[in-house]
Amino acid sequence: MTVRIGLVAVSDRASTGEYADRGTPAMVEYLARTLTTPHEIVARLIPDETELISSTLVELADEHHCCLILTTGGTGPAPRDVTPEATEAICSRIIPGFGELMRRISHAVIPTAILSRQLAGIRGSSLIINLPGSPKAIAECLDAVMPAVPDCVDLIGGPRLDVIESLGAWRPPQS
Ligand code: MTE
Repeated sequence: MTVRIGLVAVSDRASTGEYADRGTPAMVEYLARTLTTPHEIVARLIPDETELISSTLVELADEHHCCLILTTGGTGPAPRDVTPEATEAICSRIIPGFGELMRRISHAVIPTAILSRQLAGIRGSSLIINLPGSPKAIAECLDAVMPAVPDCVDLIGGPRLDVIESLGAWRPPQS
């Protein structure tokens, strides 16, 4: 079965073409390298506008039934950084461990990692994860949280998602 994954690059400047969106290719490459379940991508590139970010996430979750939605960018403390607020607004639940872990592992790499307000939450059967804007941060954060993603998607009623063994994903043994 093919699963659908949503990718949302949030950036004022990339969305107007001022510079290239490097976040989406980084997420696509990461998923191509680590997911063993066939997947199709639904990608969006949008400016840092709260309402637009929220409505895009709703579209990907409710209309496209993406089991996993990754956002990149807009997690910092600058006035235009609103991705976490826009995500929280449309989630029924937040799972704090994702943000906690991503900040912890990121802090070992760069002291400004604590500036990221990134979070993860659930909307219906979709898991939404905020990632920072830098392509390097995308891979670092995904390496940390991906091991818990397949079980999370199972638990919220999504499709079966499998990843390469080296990620060390954990699932409860089948009874
Ligand atoms: N996390 C990781 N793993 N690697 C990084 O290089 N950069 C940080 C942080 N988290 C970084 C990281 C920096 S410099 C900022 S300002 C915040 O993420 C917010 O980034 P964003 O506003 O592009 O989302």
